[in-house]
Amino acid sequence: MNQQARFIHMQDGTEQDWAIIADDFRAYTSQLANRILAHLRLLDGDFGGFPIDRLSHSLQTATRAWRDGRDEEYVVCALLHDIGDTLGSYNHPDIAAAILKPFISPENLWMVEKHGVFQGYYFFHHLGMDRHLREQFQDHPQYQQTIEFCARYDAAAFDPGYDSQPLSFFEPMLQRLFAQPRQSIYKAALQQPAATA
Ligand SMILES: [Fe+2]
Ligand SMILES: [Fe+2]
Repeated sequence: MNQQARFIHMQDGTEQDWAIIADDFRAYTSQLANRILAHLRLLDGDFGGFPIDRLSHSLQTATRAWRDGRDEEYVVCALLHDIGDTLGSYNHPDIAAAILKPFISPENLWMVEKHGVFQGYYFFHHLGMDRHLREQFQDHPQYQQTIEFCARYDAAAFDPGYDSQPLSFFEPMLQRLFAQPRQSIYKAALQQPAATA
């Protein structure tokens, strides 16, 4: 059995306790890409009334971006943009943004976070909503980038006949992107040599 810390209240935690936890954390974070892949698979068969299920839509969005020559970070953003549909039914872009935040540029993060409002241009008016809601961001530097993401990849990715790459194709990209955070308050702790206690 793995070693475990012994404190009952954190105020009694020792350096040894935290060496155990930090070791475990490093092992746990090394599996992050695998957990994300498992969560993406929850979208398989989940149609929600759409012409294709949510995993197929995600794969198609990512494949379209990849075939268009987008870089790896962008392609992973495209793959994950709707991963929050399961738990964030009322704010799904926030879930993808939270997962991706430590690993991507502020520009791509903004695009992921706001894609729901921008995608609304294509359907909000059918639901009695304002399709131009995105215009509140028209002076933002990523306004055009996010319009383009929706127009070329996200809104375009409902074709049941499209030849998407399988999830396994994107797996190495996820493994690379999620191997190391660009920014995280835990970054320094993660870079400590593994404790031997
Ligand atoms: Fe979405
Ligand atoms: Fe989408």
